[in-house]
Amino acid sequence: MSEPLCTDPSNEDFEQEEHELEKSGLYSELTRRRFMKAAGAFSAATAIGLPIVAWAEGAPEARAITLKVNGKPEVLSLDMRTTLLDALREHLDLTGTKKGCDHGQCGACTVLVDGRRVNSCLTLAFAAEGSDITTIEGLAKTSDPQDLSGLHPMQAAFLEHDGYQCGYCTPGQICSAIAAIEESKHGALSIVSLHTGKTDKPEMTDDEIKERMSGNICRCGAYPNIVAAVRAVARGVSA
Ligand code: FES
Ligand code: FES
Repeated sequence: MSEPLCTDPSNEDFEQEEHELEKSGLYSELTRRRFMKAAGAFSAATAIGLPIVAWAEGAPEARAITLKVNGKPEVLSLDMRTTLLDALREHLDLTGTKKGCDHGQCGACTVLVDGRRVNSCLTLAFAAEGSDITTIEGLAKTSDPQDLSGLHPMQAAFLEHDGYQCGYCTPGQICSAIAAIEESKHGALSIVSLHTGKTDKPEMTDDEIKERMSGNICRCGAYPNIVAAVRAVARGVSA
């Protein structure tokens, strides 16, 4: 019998990794991957013009909301469907957080919600009410651009290691990197931890950093320098 003309090894790898994540109880990672897969199918459907869902008729009324952003309560009146990303950029003028794909696929919009990294384009502003939201603007202790000593250590490391080119992905990379180090410190595992068997106390090796930062895309390809910056902070050798 002839061999099949086309196999899909990447899909097999994907399914194998899903199986390993399920066995190891890494359900949050599993959910993220499945969501990404579903989002890909949604994008493909829209690209070829398939009807998706009927739009709700009429816009709902705006409602009052208080968001705690960078330690400061902000009172807004928002459509219930407003994403956290749009609330930050369009209503609070915090344009450091970037809109890349607006579909949860690039990480440019990453912010910290109660210390955890989230894609703000996939988070409703109302879902973040009552939480501490930190954006790139809230990381430094200073608003003086000349005062480098007031930067967050991750910001300083990105400067020191040239972890950017155009800088568009950088706010998301920095927020994501801060949370990734905290996740590792608290023993959260990645697929690399499982492959290496270091499940007791995962270290931020380069492979771990690459895996844990894989949700943040850099179109300029500054990855080696981004890894160097994250490695420096993770090992406590940066400013
Ligand atoms: Fe949110 Fe790309 S803009 S993930
Ligand atoms: Fe340009 Fe990352 S520095 S996209």
